[in-house]
Amino acid sequence: MNELFELRRTAVIDQIVSEGLITHVDWFQEIDSTNAYLKRFLNQNPVSGLPRLVLADRQTAGRGRGKNAWWSPDGCLMFSLAWRPSKTDIHENIEWQSRLVQLPLVVGIAVAKALSGFLKDGNSVKVKWPNDVYIHQKKVCGILIESIVGVDEPFWIVGAGVNVLVPIADAPEPIRSNATSLHLECARSFRETLCVESILLAIVQSLQATFDDWQSNNDFLHQVWSQHCFLTDRLVDIQTSGRNLQGTCIGIDDSGALVLRDQKGLLHCVLSGVVQSWQ
Ligand code: BTN
Repeated sequence: MNELFELRRTAVIDQIVSEGLITHVDWFQEIDSTNAYLKRFLNQNPVSGLPRLVLADRQTAGRGRGKNAWWSPDGCLMFSLAWRPSKTDIHENIEWQSRLVQLPLVVGIAVAKALSGFLKDGNSVKVKWPNDVYIHQKKVCGILIESIVGVDEPFWIVGAGVNVLVPIADAPEPIRSNATSLHLECARSFRETLCVESILLAIVQSLQATFDDWQSNNDFLHQVWSQHCFLTDRLVDIQTSGRNLQGTCIGIDDSGALVLRDQKGLLHCVLSGVVQSWQ
């Protein structure tokens, strides 16, 4: 790692801590998975300072949603953020559970907003429910959210992988066909200064601002989702509760569930599922 590179990284870490969202930052050259690391760490040190941010230049066992792996080469911004929901959320259990359903969507919006600042056409950055971030129909960021409730107080881990400078042409299929990188998509003026540190800073700042909006406005998600939704008006095939459902996406309901209208005109609200395809 050269000196300039190290200075830039240290400066960004210092700025993130000084702005107050994060208390501790660890940045590894290589690790199995930042999510897995944080889980191990917090199980052993449940009272340690949160929020805690862990990053890695490479992951040897990067994890995606479900049973998927996450391709984790150099040039991918990979981080996990752990924090506890506020005491009010914990004690008002219903509130906490409903927040957990909305959290993936809120994180997706925060990342999309941050990335849109690096593109000429910021509107091309969309969130594919629940939280994959897409540019021009290709995935640029995946998000894996886990909540740990077995310890004294529950905590959340938000893991994200952003293809910043990743060489998509070298990726294995189907990633090569379905993914893109910020470097490929962004305007020439931004491309020249693009680095994982600047994207990290933009995302952390956006997470902070978006969480504040979400915390202070119960209707936040409902108000902003339509601006970011990739699937609205598309015919979607989704696997949910062991069956396949097809319908046109008309947005989300108040809880954050995806709403589909099927061929008969019936509405279906899907709280959790995997989008298989869309047209
Ligand atoms: C997905 O799209 O399936 C979610 C991908 C999440 C990948 C990130 S990379 C950093 C963090 N650590 C992991 O092992 N996974 C998440």
